[in-house]
Amino acid sequence: MTYNGAIRWTSPSNIALIKYWGKHGRQLPRNPSISFTLSNCISDTSVHYDIDSAHDGLSVDFHFEDKPNTAFGSRIEKFLGSITDHLPWLDHCRLKISSRNSFPHSSGIASSASAMSALAMCLVDIQQSIDQSNEPNMMLASSLARLGSGSASRSTIPQIGQWGHCEIPGSSDLYAIPYADQVDPVFHHYHDDICIVSADEKSVSSSAGHGLMDKSVFAEQRYTQAGQRLITLTHAMKAGDLETFGALVEDEALTLHGLMLCSEPSFVLMEPNTISIIQAIRSYRRDTGIPVHFTLDAGPNIHMLYPDEYSAEITAWSQQVIKPLCHNGRIIKDHIGNGPKKLK
Ligand code: PMV
Repeated sequence: MTYNGAIRWTSPSNIALIKYWGKHGRQLPRNPSISFTLSNCISDTSVHYDIDSAHDGLSVDFHFEDKPNTAFGSRIEKFLGSITDHLPWLDHCRLKISSRNSFPHSSGIASSASAMSALAMCLVDIQQSIDQSNEPNMMLASSLARLGSGSASRSTIPQIGQWGHCEIPGSSDLYAIPYADQVDPVFHHYHDDICIVSADEKSVSSSAGHGLMDKSVFAEQRYTQAGQRLITLTHAMKAGDLETFGALVEDEALTLHGLMLCSEPSFVLMEPNTISIIQAIRSYRRDTGIPVHFTLDAGPNIHMLYPDEYSAEITAWSQQVIKPLCHNGRIIKDHIGNGPKKLK
């Protein structure tokens, strides 16, 4: 049997509200997490495939932003070699993969979630044409994305993705599920302005970060806390209770950084301006009553979250107060989006 062709998908990054931090087994989470799927920060991935059952082995030629990239290429090759149980044709094919990001390379935004999710969509699309089925298998897409990078499982989901087994019916450690239809509509148009405090490479890789949890004295309490917070957060999101939502989301970000501060070895991933922006957001909120909150990924950049109706006021204020605290004044404006898209 032979199959060949080319496909192209884009997929966005996501920002976790309840953080996944700690894993086991085959990229399984120690606790459930939930995130906003973004819109503007995307990876755009094309795959040319040539599958021939008479040909043994997998060969991968990977280009990032039009240049060969051996570092990410070997990670991708290892990932593809590890999922032949799901996609047996990977043992008999040649792939040319070419990927680019819409967000600047050194913006401090983690690209593995968008990149692995876009690649997973391409793989599932190839599987769909082999099976001649009408729809891509979205559970498989999220599962494969998870095997590439845990948080990528949530990027395959439009608007709000929930990953990890918990009280939510249908939740699973293997893949993320859609959650947007269970929240107040205020969250369907939420903004995420990413305030770039530093564009440097992260000083701890997420694999090493997850590994720190294995030795943390707080590990068990943290996993329990994350599960409880996820339920409280989803109730607040259903009720449109922005105060409870925001307090929990901020606490989650600080907990993630707190765990890193007291891990062995310890990591300080915030910068002085990270703290200045946190304080500026809190005093603006106190002074105006406008529900703007922050979260952080495993790095110094602030994600400023707020409802659409306050967009004009917050933009005017942040140009004055937040922009000067950012590296080269850079704020990437993003918002909740509709997940992966197939391109011609
Ligand atoms: O998907 P990974 O292995 O890069 O882990 C991501 C971990 C955090 O970004 C810190 C939190 C999360 O849930 O996205």
